[in-house]
Order: sequence, then C-alpha cells, then structure tokens
Amino acid sequence: MNESATPAGRAMRRRACRRTALALSLSLAGALTAVVASPAAAQSGAGHPGAGHPGAGHPGAGHPAIPSPPAAADGATAGNGGAANPPDTLEQRLIGCTVCHGTQDVIVEGNYYPRLFGKPAGYLYNQLVNFREGRRAYPLMTYLVGNLPDPYLKEIAGYFASQHPPYPPPGPAQAGQAAMQRGRDLVFSGDPARDVPACAACHGQALTGVAPSIPGLLGLPKDYISAQFGAWRNRARHTVAPDCMARIAERLSTDDIAAAAAWLAAQPVPGEGRPASAPAADLPIACGSVATATAATATANANAPSRGSP
Ligand code: HEC
Ligand code: HEC
Repeated sequence: MNESATPAGRAMRRRACRRTALALSLSLAGALTAVVASPAAAQSGAGHPGAGHPGAGHPGAGHPAIPSPPAAADGATAGNGGAANPPDTLEQRLIGCTVCHGTQDVIVEGNYYPRLFGKPAGYLYNQLVNFREGRRAYPLMTYLVGNLPDPYLKEIAGYFASQHPPYPPPGPAQAGQAAMQRGRDLVFSGDPARDVPACAACHGQALTGVAPSIPGLLGLPKDYISAQFGAWRNRARHTVAPDCMARIAERLSTDDIAAAAAWLAAQPVPGEGRPASAPAADLPIACGSVATATAATATANANAPSRGSP
C-alpha cells in the first residue's frame, strides 16, 4: 500500500498492471474462445433463427480455435470446488470473464477493467453488440464476442445484470480539492455555458444508472472513465445515433473530464448500486442507445427476436 503512494510506486504499479493485463489477454483469449463460443454455437444450432449458417464458425468441442489453455483459466475453472468436470452452466462458462470484470478488491489507480455485475442488461447487451460490430474498439473483446449470436449475448448480459455482489470501497481521491469540487459540480449541475447537462440527469440522481440501458457511473476506475471519454472524442467508441455521450465528450475540456472521473471514482456505491427502474424525466439530449434498448426489451417481451431497429 505504502510504496504505491509515491509517484514512482504508482508508475511501477501501473506498468505491472498493464503487463499483467497483456499477459492475461493473450493467455485467456484462447481458453475463453473455446469456453464461451462452443455452447453458443451449440445454441445457435439449437434453433437460433437468425444464424442462417448453423455450421459456420462452429469451433467443434474437440478443436478449440486456439490451443494451449492457460493456467489462469484452469484456475478459474477449478474454482468450482475443484470438480474435475464442472457442470456446464452459463455461470461456469462466464467465470473467465470475471478474471478481468469481477469484483476488484478496491478501486485503485491503474485499475482499468470495468465491472459488469449489476449493470443494466440492455446496456451490457448494447456493448457486446458494439464490440462485435466495431462500434467499440478493444481487440480482445471484439475477438471474444465476434462470432456470438444475439440471443447468446442477451443471455450473457442478463446473467451479469442479475448478479449483485458487494462493491469494494472506493480508493483514495486521485485529484486535488479544487478538481474534486469541479467534478462534483459537473456531475450534479453540468456546465450550462458549454451546453453540458448534469450527468445525474441521465445516469440517475444516485448515479447508479437507469434500466434498461443507462449504466451507473460509480464503482468504475478513474482511468476507465477517462479512457471512454477519449474514445468518444477520437471516435473509437460509438453507439447507435444520436450518440449523446459523443456530444457531451466533445463539449468538455480534458481537465473537466479528469475532474469528473476523479470525483466519480472516489465515491462509495450506495447499497447494492442497483439501477433505477425508469428515467425521472425526458433525457436532456436524445440517446439512440436508450431508444434501441427500450425497443429491444419490448421485442424480447413480445418473444419475437430480431435485430434492433435504428
Ligand atoms: C483480459 C481481460 C478481459 C476479459 C477476459 C474479458 N474482458 Fe470484457 N473488457 C475488457 C476491457 C479492458 C474492457 C474495456 C474496453 C474499453 O476500453 O472499451 C472490456 C469491456 C467489456 C464490456 C463493456 C463494459 C462497459 O461498462 O461498458 C462488456 C459488456 C464486456 N467487456 C464483457 C465481457 C465478457 C462477457 C467477457 C467474457 C466472454 C469478457 N468481457 C472478458 C477486458 C476483458
Ligand atoms: C443525455 C443523457 C446523458 C448525459 C447528460 C450523460 N450521459 Fe453518460 N451515458 C449516457 C448513455 C445513454 C450511456 C450509454 C452509452 C452506450 O450505450 O454506449 C452513457 C455512458 C456513459 C459512460 C460509460 C460507462 C461504461 O461503463 O462504459 C460513462 C463513463 C459516462 N456515460 C459518463 C458520463 C458523465 C461523466 C457525464 C456528465 C459529464 C454523463 N455521462 C452525462 C447518457 C448520458
């Protein structure tokens, strides 16, 4: 803990994190492709209407696309009481995802992975589709979900949305007092001079998100939040138009983004951090992803699977 308080310690820790992340990415990718993809392919063979090519991309249980399942994944799989053949449940198949997306002990500087547990299902589903279709750029994620059909992505999203393990306490403040105050002001009052609405107007007064498709802003690492704004600004991250976050990102200064990210990352998550069930009022800027998720939910309820409409 103490050595990470010095700038050198922090830098070392960040480098170590990135190295670990890279090694993890490389070693997990092969195992996860086999683990996640084969049941999906089996599922699409079991009557997924949109697949068209039931055999296409089927990795074949005995022929994983990439050999050498790593020790990390073995360890993760063995987490189920050490059983030699753990039952093939959705939870079991997704354990590999939680190596990166689980419940980190504490939100510290250098963390990057966004938690998935408890996020609104429509939001998670939109992101999985966004990675698959190139609206978000993170090669490992695109690789993992690249061949998965919509119904399986929906199942994955639903699984993570339904889990509510406790949140860790936030890490220490990662900005000075003035920046923290500026961050708080942006979150609750926005910046009218720049036409930026309060973050809370869309993400909920408790900032825990709004079902079905607006994510919470608490319990996320500062670096992850800042990086998403960078991605909106340089057009690496998109949603279905109108892309409200891209509008907001281009109106904020780099300092303001850092301030909002630092303030958000330093807040404890109230209760289980469950999203609110409906927006309080009309959104101050139109968001295409919200309309899409609402339509998708209606479609799912009507039990008529289809691609989302614009
Ligand atoms: C090696 C680490 C790693 C693994 C394993 C991994 N992911 Fe990710 N995932 C990431 C990173 C990093 C991001 C953020 C990328 C970015 O900056 O856009 C991400 C983003 C996501 C997001 C968007 C989250 C948000 O809040 O917008 C979802 C959803 C997701 N991953 C699902 C999964 C699922 C499902 C699996 C298992 C099949 C998985 N991930 C496995 C590293 C990983
Ligand atoms: C007009 C409504 C609206 C406002 C105002 C708004 N957001 Fe968002 N935000 C959204 C929506 C919708 C999404 C989901 C976008 C998607 O599906 O990719 C989102 C996503 C995000 C994410 C991604 C979370 C993740 O897990 O990847 C972050 C971070 C974020 N917003 C931060 C902010 C901050 C900080 C502010 C205030 C400066 C803000 N937002 C204001 C609607 C809004």
